[in-house]
Amino acid sequence: IMGSGSNDVESSILSALSGGTDSIISDTYAYSVESNVDHNSIVGSCKSLATDAYVSLTEISTQFYVLSTEAEDIVSNGSQEIRVLNALLLAGGAGLSNEELENAVGGGGESVGSGVCKIGVGNCLKNRWARKDKASGKLIAIVDSVSGDDVRDQLLRLKSVSSKEDNTKVLDDPTYVALKRRKLIALVTRKSYTVSRGPNYAPTRTRKAADLTREMLESGSWKTTPFKEYNFRTLGESVGGGHLHPLLKVRAEFRKILMEMGFEEMPTDKWVESSFWNFDTLFQPQSHPARDAHDTFFIKEPCRTISIPEEYYDRVKAMHETGGSGSIGYRTVFQREEATKNLLRTHTTAISSRMLYKLANRPGGFKPARYFSIDRVFRNESMDATHLCEFHQVEGLVADYNLSLGDLIGTIETFFRKIGITQLRFKPAFNPYTEPSMEVFGYHPDLKKWTEIGNSGMFRPEMLAPMGLPKDVRVIAWGLSLERPTMIKYRIDNIRNLFGHKVDMGMTRNAPICRFEEKEEEEKA
Ligand code: PHE
Repeated sequence: IMGSGSNDVESSILSALSGGTDSIISDTYAYSVESNVDHNSIVGSCKSLATDAYVSLTEISTQFYVLSTEAEDIVSNGSQEIRVLNALLLAGGAGLSNEELENAVGGGGESVGSGVCKIGVGNCLKNRWARKDKASGKLIAIVDSVSGDDVRDQLLRLKSVSSKEDNTKVLDDPTYVALKRRKLIALVTRKSYTVSRGPNYAPTRTRKAADLTREMLESGSWKTTPFKEYNFRTLGESVGGGHLHPLLKVRAEFRKILMEMGFEEMPTDKWVESSFWNFDTLFQPQSHPARDAHDTFFIKEPCRTISIPEEYYDRVKAMHETGGSGSIGYRTVFQREEATKNLLRTHTTAISSRMLYKLANRPGGFKPARYFSIDRVFRNESMDATHLCEFHQVEGLVADYNLSLGDLIGTIETFFRKIGITQLRFKPAFNPYTEPSMEVFGYHPDLKKWTEIGNSGMFRPEMLAPMGLPKDVRVIAWGLSLERPTMIKYRIDNIRNLFGHKVDMGMTRNAPICRFEEKEEEEKA
């Protein structure tokens, strides 16, 4: 019945135990030999039956010796020393040279035969059955006969008991130690089981149902069907789903904070922008070095934008060329060719500019607003441990009547306090589109040092007036990178371990969620 299914094996085990409460299978190994079924499949079926308590198992471990191929050769052809001695006895008083011996006993040959001659000669000399003639170098027998072949006899004896269960007792006999040393025999351990009836024994197995089915409900068989118990200790299958990248975790947290502060998210989907929105509307002069291919990625195809709001364009052009709102402008020629160039946006302030233009021109007229954006920007940077060509900016702005620098500082303080940075310093700086401008430095309590964490300012009238915003509307704004706080939060010291092809996916999988704690005011001291 080799190859029979596990159900057949199971039922034959159960019927082997059907003789009464004391019936047992004393050893599954012997049982497998008797029934000619693979031992592993018997053990598998026994273990499966044991989980439902149909049977109980007691482990048996049996140690016994097995014969090596060399030993099997000795059993069939005699030991090497007997084969050498027989050849020498045949040769008589003249003896045999090594070569002659090898021809006679086939000593130098392949696998089994290999070394027969060498081992045989060694043992003949050791047993004083032969001597080497000094003059001729030949081996000459010095006995007429020996009584039997001890090694072969020992192996035969072992082989005859090895079909019985335990042949290790035979080996208490010290002569077998020599066989072991000659690597003719090796000890192996076999695990098998004694099988007896378990508390749930029955002559046939009823498989417990895993699920309640519609058929069971309809037929009413659910009342009598045995069900599998719930295994509350099993580990759930691991969910192989996706994981948010740390940048996205921090983004989610920043979003939450900014929305708590009443900011509304701006549409950030335009990675490709025109120079007009990225630079010109921000009153960034057309000759500004940032507008160079060394700093900005320009788009080859399509290289130009197809639409610009024309009236607004004229006002922007006029502001650059001749000024207005108290400014004298740059007094250089404003070129359409420069303004229409497409590029990968270099900052999210391009988004802010579009949004403010829309706000100035909304149907009901201007209304105070708070906006934010968090998305990707691109710069032609030389890359190092802290710089990549693409990164993310967080930007916020407030547009309202008569805002002051105090409002800007207050808003920035509130925002940074919410991400755990309470000590701020402001340093005068320059941006083409803000006046005044301030770099923001924060004291990082973990790193215990002051680092630049952002940039800020009040948008210039040269930017706001052409948009059509009322004269006394002021716009305060600040920006920071998303990478810097993420690296600090997740203690990543090289930006390439955060973003790009070197990122360890395990890091993304294991990174904890991001929570920023608002520090109490008192801690400021
Ligand atoms: N756009 C600036 C930058 O890229 C940040 C900034 C935003 C500065 C808003 C002032 C106001 O660094």
